[in-house]
Amino acid sequence: MVVQLGRFLPGRTAPPLSRFLKQWDEFLSRCFFIEKGRFTMMICSGSQLKKSFAGTVIFEDVQFEIKDGEKIGLVGRNGSGKTTLFKCISKIESPDSGTIAIKKGAKVGYLAQIPTFASEMTGRNVLESAFGHLVKVEKELKQLEWQMATNVDSMESLLERYGSLQEEFTRNGGYEMESRIARMINGLELGGLVEKPFQKLSGGEQTKVCLGYILLQEPELLLLDEPTNHLDIMAVEWLEGFLNEYPGAVMMISHDRYFLDTVVKKVYDLEEGELTIYHGNYSTFVKEKEERLLQEFQAYQEQQKKIKKIERSN
Ligand SMILES: Nc1ncnc2c1ncn2[C@@H]1O[C@H](COP(=O)(O)OP(=O)(O)O)[C@@H](O)[C@H]1O
Ligand SMILES: [Mg+2]
Repeated sequence: MVVQLGRFLPGRTAPPLSRFLKQWDEFLSRCFFIEKGRFTMMICSGSQLKKSFAGTVIFEDVQFEIKDGEKIGLVGRNGSGKTTLFKCISKIESPDSGTIAIKKGAKVGYLAQIPTFASEMTGRNVLESAFGHLVKVEKELKQLEWQMATNVDSMESLLERYGSLQEEFTRNGGYEMESRIARMINGLELGGLVEKPFQKLSGGEQTKVCLGYILLQEPELLLLDEPTNHLDIMAVEWLEGFLNEYPGAVMMISHDRYFLDTVVKKVYDLEEGELTIYHGNYSTFVKEKEERLLQEFQAYQEQQKKIKKIERSN
């Protein structure tokens, strides 16, 4: 918003307060949204996005917004470009034109392919690695405890190091790490997998462990491409609950209509290269889209009638 100072100089009439408030409101609406009585921040937005592969346009002039905490379903037939859009948001692909803005410092969680983990890592180690260097901090804390019990001479320096590490560990949620990992293992039914070497797991099993790994990272924006593949009904139900409680924004691609209906509050429909936004869950989207298509068909029929009438009268 540019405030034009000239308008306030003596001799000029000040703009009505209502106009100023409108401008201010417009400015705020670009940064924050008031939803359910609280300020909501924009996490990601895309404008005028175009992407093509070998001259074939996949999508064009795509605009979207993802606000903090929103749960969005991305739907569209196979090959419509959903995964490509996810890859553009997570910067694995770049759009031919247009811009994608992500809130400064916000983490985007997306699993394009199964990452390579060190060969000695078990499934549990993979889950632990979601907490970054906290695992190392925990190990050092244990070592320091042992050293303090055996080496009384350098107690002062050991205590100092222990204190600062413990503060860091607490601040970053180190003491909740074990319980969060246990919750993930129970929910996604990873019990039989986590003690095995990750490399020895099947593709489907690795995908399941990686889903846990991404969820444990708690990114501000979670992009899930068919997350219910490889999950049985109990784990899908658990994931529904988890995502409903998830504080960050979630955009997901799924062919499971019931799953979408339970989680999403907004649907982005990618069709013939264009993105249309529907507010509501999946069932609302299906109903509204049917109505829209019917209206378009009726308008087309009316237009055809008019054309024929004009042709007859000529
Ligand atoms: N790296 C690529 N190179 C060439 N074509 C691609 C590439 N990635 C995707 N495509 C093509 O782009 C289209 C959209 O793919 P995709 O985004 O995977 O669709 P969706 O996820 O909606 O099924 C498909 O026709 C696919 O074959
Ligand atoms: Mg896809």
